[in-house]
Amino acid sequence: MKSRIIGTGSYLPENIRTNYDLEKMVDTSHDWIVARTGIEERRIAAADQCTSDMGTIAAQRAMDMAGVTADDIDLIVMGTITGDYPWPATACLVQENLGAKKAFAYDVSAACSGFLFALSCADDFLRSGRGKRALVIGAETFSRIVDWTDRNTCVLFGDGAGAVLLESQEGDSGVLSCHLHSDGKYFELLCQKGFGAKYPPSVEGIGAKLPFITMQGNEVFKVAVRSMTQVSKEALTANGYTSADVAQFIPHQANLRILEATTKRLGLTKEQSFINVHKYGNTSGATIPIAIDEANHQGLLKEGDLLLSAAFGGGFTWGSTLIRW
Ligand code: UT7
Repeated sequence: MKSRIIGTGSYLPENIRTNYDLEKMVDTSHDWIVARTGIEERRIAAADQCTSDMGTIAAQRAMDMAGVTADDIDLIVMGTITGDYPWPATACLVQENLGAKKAFAYDVSAACSGFLFALSCADDFLRSGRGKRALVIGAETFSRIVDWTDRNTCVLFGDGAGAVLLESQEGDSGVLSCHLHSDGKYFELLCQKGFGAKYPPSVEGIGAKLPFITMQGNEVFKVAVRSMTQVSKEALTANGYTSADVAQFIPHQANLRILEATTKRLGLTKEQSFINVHKYGNTSGATIPIAIDEANHQGLLKEGDLLLSAAFGGGFTWGSTLIRW
C-alpha cells in the first residue's frame, strides 16, 4: 500500500504587500530584496483571519478536488509554528471547521520543514493501516510573529496555506520515501524565543521583542543549501533514481538564491524546478503544499511523474520526500 495524493488545495490571503510597501516601513529597497531573495511580494492575512481559517479553506479545496467528504477523513496532521493558540493544536480547530468528526488531529512543530514532517507522519499511519485517508496541511500566519521594524526578517515572510489529501492505495503511485533530520545545536540561529516555559509572558519580554522571529540569515543560508542538497540526494539514492528521473523538484521556497544553488548542486534544470517565492515570499510550513497545488493546477504533475521535494527550517530540521504522482 502507498499513500497517494488524490487532492490538493491552497489558500493565499487577498492582501498583497509589495517590496515598495516595505520601502515605506523599513530602510530597504525593492532592488535589494529582489537581488538577495527573489521575493517581489507576499500575502498578508486579514486582521480577522488565522492559521486555522486558511488551513480549513486549503483542506476543503483538496477534499473537493478528490470528491471526498469530511466523514471520509481519518487523520489530520498540520505543520505549523504559527497556530491560532499556543495550544490546543490548530489541526483540532480545522477538524471542527470541516466537521471531520471521526478524524484525530494534531500539529507538528518543525518550522519550515513542518509540512514534510507532517506528511511523513500521515504516510506512516496510512501504510500501517491506521486509516484510509489523511489530510496533511501546511499553514502559517507569519505576519503575526514578524517584527515589522526589522528589515533583516520582515522582507522575507508571508502568510498562506496548502493541503494534500492522501489515500492509501495499492499500486505504483504514492509516497515512495520520507527522509527527516534535525540538529538542535543550531536552534538559536532561527527561532522565536517568547513566550514559552523558558521565557514566560512578561512586560519585559515584550520590550525585548521575544515574541518575534530572530534569524542569523547568513549562517542559516549556508546550512540550508548544504542540507537540502544532501537530503534530496538521499531520497534519490534510496529509491535508485538520479536527478534526470525527476519531473518536478518542489523545494521549500525561502529564498531564490537558496533554490538556485540547491538546484544547481543537484544537477537539475530550471524546467525541473518549481519556483513561486517571488509571489508569496517564505510562508514557512506552507510553501511546499502551496507549490504542489499550483504545479498540479498548471498540469506540471502527470501520472507516473517523479516529484522530489525538500525543506529546511528552524530547529534545525530538514527533510525530503520522493513521490510517484
Ligand atoms: O525558511 C528557512 C529559513 N530561512 C532562510 O532560509 C533564510 C536564509 N537566509 C537568507 O535568505 C539571507 O541570508 C537573507 C536574505 C536573510 C540576507 O541576505 P544576505 O545576502 O545573507 O545578506 P546579509 O545578511 O549578509 O546582509 C548584507 C547587508 C547588511 O549590511 P552591511 O552589514 O553589509 O552593511 C545588512 O544589514 O544587507 C543589509 N540588509 C538589508 N539591506 C536592505 C539586511 N536586510 C536588508 C534589507 N534591505 N531588507
